[in-house]
Amino acid sequence: MNCFNISCILLIVLGFTEGAGLLPDGLNAAVGETAMFTTTLSPTEKPFQSVNWAFNFSKTIIIVTNSENTIGPEYEGRITFFPSTASLEFRSLTLNDTGEYAVSIAQDGKIQNGRTTLVIYEKVSNVSVTSSSTDLVEFSGSVSLSCSASGSSLSFLWLNGSSEVTASDRVQLTDGGSSLTIINVTRFDQGPFRCSVSSPVSTGTSDPVNLSISYGPENINLILSPPQGYFAVGSDISLTCSVGSRPPAQFNWFLNGDQLPDTGSELRLMNVHMSQSGNYSCQAFNSKTLRSQTSQPSAITVLGKSASVKPSTNLPVEGTSVSLTCEASGSVFTRNWMKDGSDLTPTDNMTLSDNNRVLTFNTVNRKDNGEYFCQISNPISSDGAKYVMTVNYGPENVQIKGPNKINIKGTLKLICSAESTPSARFTWFLNGTEVLTNSAEYNKEEVEFSDSGNYTCQAWNNITERTSSSVVQGLIVTGCAAGCIAGIVIACCVIFAAAVGGGYYIYKKK
Ligand SMILES: *[C@@H]1O[C@H](CO)[C@@H](O)[C@H](O)[C@H]1NC(C)=O
Ligand SMILES: *[C@@H]1O[C@H](CO)[C@@H](O)[C@H](O)[C@H]1NC(C)=O
Ligand SMILES: *[C@@H]1O[C@H](CO)[C@@H](O)[C@H](O)[C@H]1NC(C)=O
Ligand SMILES: *[C@@H]1O[C@H](CO)[C@@H](O)[C@H](O)[C@H]1NC(C)=O
Ligand SMILES: *[C@@H]1O[C@H](CO)[C@@H](O)[C@H](O)[C@H]1NC(C)=O
Ligand SMILES: *[C@@H]1O[C@H](CO)[C@@H](O)[C@H](O)[C@H]1NC(C)=O
Ligand SMILES: *[C@@H]1O[C@H](CO)[C@@H](O)[C@H](O)[C@H]1NC(C)=O
Ligand SMILES: *[C@@H]1O[C@H](CO)[C@@H](O)[C@H](O)[C@H]1NC(C)=O
Ligand SMILES: *[C@@H]1O[C@H](CO)[C@@H](O)[C@H](O)[C@H]1NC(C)=O
Ligand SMILES: *[C@@H]1O[C@H](CO)[C@@H](O)[C@H](O)[C@H]1NC(C)=O
Ligand SMILES: *[C@@H]1O[C@H](CO)[C@@H](O)[C@H](O)[C@H]1NC(C)=O
Repeated sequence: MNCFNISCILLIVLGFTEGAGLLPDGLNAAVGETAMFTTTLSPTEKPFQSVNWAFNFSKTIIIVTNSENTIGPEYEGRITFFPSTASLEFRSLTLNDTGEYAVSIAQDGKIQNGRTTLVIYEKVSNVSVTSSSTDLVEFSGSVSLSCSASGSSLSFLWLNGSSEVTASDRVQLTDGGSSLTIINVTRFDQGPFRCSVSSPVSTGTSDPVNLSISYGPENINLILSPPQGYFAVGSDISLTCSVGSRPPAQFNWFLNGDQLPDTGSELRLMNVHMSQSGNYSCQAFNSKTLRSQTSQPSAITVLGKSASVKPSTNLPVEGTSVSLTCEASGSVFTRNWMKDGSDLTPTDNMTLSDNNRVLTFNTVNRKDNGEYFCQISNPISSDGAKYVMTVNYGPENVQIKGPNKINIKGTLKLICSAESTPSARFTWFLNGTEVLTNSAEYNKEEVEFSDSGNYTCQAWNNITERTSSSVVQGLIVTGCAAGCIAGIVIACCVIFAAAVGGGYYIYKKK
C-alpha cells in the first residue's frame, strides 16, 4: 500500500466518518478528460491546517499541510489543488481513476470530511453502421443494420432521417438496440439511417447509411404533346413516357407492336408523315427489379389533306354500273356526298358503301349527270373533291328532217339528229349504199330522178358503240325541169295517140 504515515492515520479516521454535503454526490467523466471535485466550502484566505485527498480509502492523492504538499506518485502532474476551497481538479483521467474519493479538511481544530464517487467512462468513438445490404428491391427482402462503437455503458438509438426509429411489425430492434432489422423493405426505407450511441459521458453518431431500394416500374403513363390524337402531315409530335421507377427505367418504344430504334423517356416525331400513324406504346424496364411495364397504346393518326373522287370508269355508259370512290390520304372520319351543290339524296339505284366512301350507281342514267362532290372531314380539317359525271348514251331517237318529195333540179337537204352523248357521227345511205359520212346534213343540188329512193341516216356513238338509224322511205323526185318539157309534150302526144289508137282498137274490136 502506497501510504504515508500521517495520511494513513487520517484515512482510518475518514473511513468511519460520513462526509455528506461537502462534495457532489457522484461524478462521471470520460477517459482523458478532466474532473473537478469542488467542495461546498466558501473560499477562505486563511490556509487550511491540513487537507488530505485520498482514493479508495487507501491511496493518497495529495496531502496539504502548512509547510508542504505531498502528492501521490500516480497523480504527479495530473492534479491541481485550489487552496481557497480545498477543491481538486483531475486531468488525463483513466479508467483506473474510477472509485471512491474522499477529502478530509482540518481547520481551527475541526475536521470536515467529504466523499464521493467518480466513474470514468470511455468516450464513445468509432460509431459505425454496417448493413447486410444496401441494394434492395422493394417488397422482396429485409435488411439488417448493425451499429458498433467503442466505449462503455453504451446505449443505441437509430435515426431515420431526423426522426427516431421505433420498433414495429416490420422494424425490429435487437441486441440492446444496436441492430435494426427492417423486414419487407419499402421505398420509404431509404433512410438516411444513422446510429446514435450514448454513454453517460458522451454521444457519437455514425455516418449516414442510405439504402437503395429499387422499385417499379409502375404507374406508367404515355403523354402526347400536343395532347391530341390527330396530327396534320408535317407536325412535330413529342411522346413522353413517365413511370415510377428506381433506379430510372430504360425505355423502349413500339409502333403497332413493332419495336422502334428509339430509347429514352421521350420520343420525338418530327415532320410526321402518314405512314407514322399507328398505336404507340412505351415500355419501361428496371434493370434492378428486372420488372417491366408497358403503357396503354396511344393512337396517333397523321391526316393527309388531299381528297379525290375516282370513277370506276372514265366513260360511264348508261345502263351499266358505275361507282365513284372518294379517296383521301390519311384517315377520314366523315364523308358526305353532294350533287350539284345540294346534299345527295340517294335513289333506289344508288348504293353508298364503305362508310360513304363508295357511291355506286347500279345502272347509271343520264339523269345522274352532274357535279358530284365528296366532302371529307377529320378532326383537323375538312376537304373535298369533285367529279363531273357525264353519262354516255345513245344514239336514240334518230330523226331526219326533210321532204318526201322534191322537184327535179331542186336542192335536196336532209338533216339528221339523234340524242346521244357524245354526239353521234352520221352516215348517209341511199338505197343501202353509203353516200356520205360524218355529216349530219345531206345536201344534193339539182336532183335527178335517180336521186329517188330510200335515204337512211345512221347515227353512231363511238363510246356506247351503238348505232341507230332512221329512213326516209321512197323519196320521190317529181315534175319537169326546162329540159324535159319536150319530153312532156311527146308524152302527151303518146298518150293522145294511145288514146286515139286505143279508141280505134276498141272500135275495131267492135
Ligand atoms: C490501470 O491499472 C492496471 C493494473 O492496476 C494497469 O495495468 C494499467 O496500466 C492501468 N492503466 C492506466 C491507464 O494507468
Ligand atoms: C477502487 O474501488 C472500486 C470499488 O469501489 C473498484 O472497483 C476499483 O477497482 C478500485 N480501484 C483501484 C485502482 O483499486
Ligand atoms: C477506432 O478506430 C480506429 C481505426 O479504425 C482505431 O485505430 C482505433 O483504435 C479505434 N478506437 C477505439 C477506441 O476502438
Ligand atoms: C410486403 O409488404 C407489402 C405491402 O406493405 C405486402 O403487400 C406484402 O405482402 C409484404 N410481403 C411480405 C413478404 O411480407
Ligand atoms: C423511415 O421514414 C419514412 C418517412 O420519412 C417512413 O416512411 C419509413 O417507414 C421509415 N422507415 C423506418 C424503417 O423507420
Ligand atoms: C443519402 O441520401 C441523402 C438524401 O436522402 C443525400 O443527401 C446523401 O448525399 C446520400 N448519401 C450517400 C452517401 O449517398
Ligand atoms: C390501334 O388500336 C386500336 C384499338 O386499340 C385498333 O382498333 C387499331 O386497329 C389499332 N391500329 C393499328 C394500326 O394497329
Ligand atoms: C333504277 O334502274 C332501273 C333500271 O334501269 C330503272 O327502271 C329505274 O327507273 C331506276 N330507278 C331510279 C329511281 O332511277
Ligand atoms: C325502199 O324501202 C322499201 C321499204 O322498206 C322497200 O320495199 C324497197 O325495196 C326499197 N327500195 C330500194 C331500191 O331499196
Ligand atoms: C333507188 O331506187 C329507186 C326506186 O326503187 C330508183 O328509182 C333509183 O334510181 C335508185 N337510185 C339509185 C342511186 O340506185
Ligand atoms: C369519239 O369521237 C370523238 C369525236 O367525235 C373523239 O374526240 C373521241 O376521241 C372518240 N372516242 C373514241 C373512244 O374513239
